[in-house]
Amino acid sequence: MTNNKHKILVTGALGQIGSELTEKLREKYGSDDVIASDIRTDPSPAMLDAGPYEIIDVLQADSIINTIKKYGINTIYHMSAILSATGEKKPQLAWNVNMNGTYNILEITRELELNRVFIPSSIAVFGPETPRENTPQETVLLPKTIYGVTKVASEILADYYVQRFNIDVRGCRYPGIISHKTLPGGGTTDYAVAIFYEAVLHQKYICFLKEDTNLPMMYMPDCLKATLGLMEADRYRLHHHAGFNISGMSFTPGELAAEIKKHILSFSISYLPDERQKIAESWPQTIDDSAAQQEWGWTPEHNLASMTRDMLDVLSTRLEKGTLNYR
Ligand code: SER
Repeated sequence: MTNNKHKILVTGALGQIGSELTEKLREKYGSDDVIASDIRTDPSPAMLDAGPYEIIDVLQADSIINTIKKYGINTIYHMSAILSATGEKKPQLAWNVNMNGTYNILEITRELELNRVFIPSSIAVFGPETPRENTPQETVLLPKTIYGVTKVASEILADYYVQRFNIDVRGCRYPGIISHKTLPGGGTTDYAVAIFYEAVLHQKYICFLKEDTNLPMMYMPDCLKATLGLMEADRYRLHHHAGFNISGMSFTPGELAAEIKKHILSFSISYLPDERQKIAESWPQTIDDSAAQQEWGWTPEHNLASMTRDMLDVLSTRLEKGTLNYR
């Protein structure tokens, strides 16, 4: 980087990934040098206490620019997005937020000559024509959701900015992310979080995907490891930029339920698939992440067993203390 001191803006900082990413970046770079932002006007008191917070609508380029100038930002983690299931309910909103928000971030990075920007992509870039097993880095990208369409377009646009304007854009294709601090919203993979809360609270869960729907997933510590690992990689080792495949684990709702049952014997699951089933069936089951391994040394640490144990430990402790908030 041209300027060694990191001054970071996180958009979507109140979201599932943004909230934990902000915490992690603050541990690493210092609270005052990581500016959290979100469109929401109701950050928790804990978020407000932890460091600077700005209200930013990513569709308002001026407000992004003002914040960048105010704090001397040189790096952005652009985490705002409308996910797959919400996108199908509100396709125009998904296009607007995901495309125009990303365009604003890229243009601002170019204009203000920022050092580096992270723009996440997703397994939603793939579609039914893509090989579903060990999905290659370079493959058919013909998504059937508006979320996937915007993520493919964002990857291509980001690569264009790298080639055309020599800016440093990076991103990986996140699988479903499992975590226990901030609930996900509007995704097809969200069942894999909800199931844990329901297991701890009620020992039963009604799943909106079929029992045998195999999807790529990742535990939050690995998601943060991948995000920081890619952002810290030597630029000249990277042949890819905005769309790295990354793999953590893959499982079906049936396999996840069986793993939970090892800890909560009375747990039971039933299945009531809804419109999200079709989205899930258009996505891969397992991912080949050899490009990420080779170019920046990516390796995950968690598997189904370690993730399940950890999720149940944390949520049960919170239940015992009376601090488990869910819905
Ligand atoms: N978790 C996302 C979704 O389900 C996939 O990137 O929409």
